[in-house]
Amino acid sequence: MISIQNVSYSYNGHIPALHSVSVEIYKGEFVAIIGGNGSGKSTLLRHINGLLLPSAGSVTIKGMDTKDISSVFNIRQIAGMVFQDPGSQFIGMTVGEDIAFGPENLGLPPKEIRRRVESSLSAVGMAGYNDHTPGKLSGGQKQKVALASVLAMEPEVILFDEVTSMLDPDSRMDILSLIKQLHENGTTVVYVTHCLDELVHADRLIIMEKGHITHDGDPRLLISRGDVMNSGLGLPPIMELSRRLLNAGFFEPGCFPLSREELRDVLCQLK
Ligand SMILES: Nc1ncnc2c1ncn2[C@@H]1O[C@H](COP(=O)(O)OP(=O)(O)OP(=O)(O)O)[C@@H](O)[C@H]1O
Ligand SMILES: [Mg+2]
Repeated sequence: MISIQNVSYSYNGHIPALHSVSVEIYKGEFVAIIGGNGSGKSTLLRHINGLLLPSAGSVTIKGMDTKDISSVFNIRQIAGMVFQDPGSQFIGMTVGEDIAFGPENLGLPPKEIRRRVESSLSAVGMAGYNDHTPGKLSGGQKQKVALASVLAMEPEVILFDEVTSMLDPDSRMDILSLIKQLHENGTTVVYVTHCLDELVHADRLIIMEKGHITHDGDPRLLISRGDVMNSGLGLPPIMELSRRLLNAGFFEPGCFPLSREELRDVLCQLK
């Protein structure tokens, strides 16, 4: 679905932010990308929907090259992106207008536009906020509206760039379960995060370091082997405990628990 081939990228001739990165992302996957600050995660994500074009190499989505200007509209419709900083994303005077903007550009009938505005606002827990001014919302509310704007486009792929950093714990859980649900309904998810405890729903983990992909595989295997330890992110306490239990022979790496609930289930099954 997404093919990234030998992509290098430098911002204004600076040191390359990506060094000949190659990766294939398949339809229906939930791929998490982690790495320390400045490792190139956002730069890679911005290549997927053509916000950045490679200095060398190529990116194709469903066979369309992001360098082909005639494909830009289609690519942006297929791959929606929720940014690290939601403030940069608002276009409309009200939340409702903002969310309607994308579907209007698709030329959808007004009734369908209204349906999408309502359903995406309620999906992110912001039903009734249609007439609010985006600039006057809190950081977390802005993040939710930004996600609603992307949902209203019903994209096949959603690119998430550290979207939970401004959310309170309840909202974070709500958005994570919404993302899980989107994935279960067939949306391809590419999810950039610093929080390892958000990897529980991912079926693939990519680790980046200094503009390179250093690891790409099963999150449970990569974490249980300690491959994430060098990425500068540290392990959450539950995963640290899981690693100690794994090393003590309590279970196999393939069922390495990533959350409190998974650890409880694994421990309960021990004889
Ligand atoms: N707009 C920009 N202009 C110049 N250099 C940039 C710009 N954005 C990023 N860079 C550089 O590119 C490299 C990769 O940055 P990128 O934003 O992709 O990292 P990241 O992994 O997303 O980091 P973070 O975890 O802090 O969000 C860094 O060295 C950064 O300084
Ligand atoms: Mg970033």
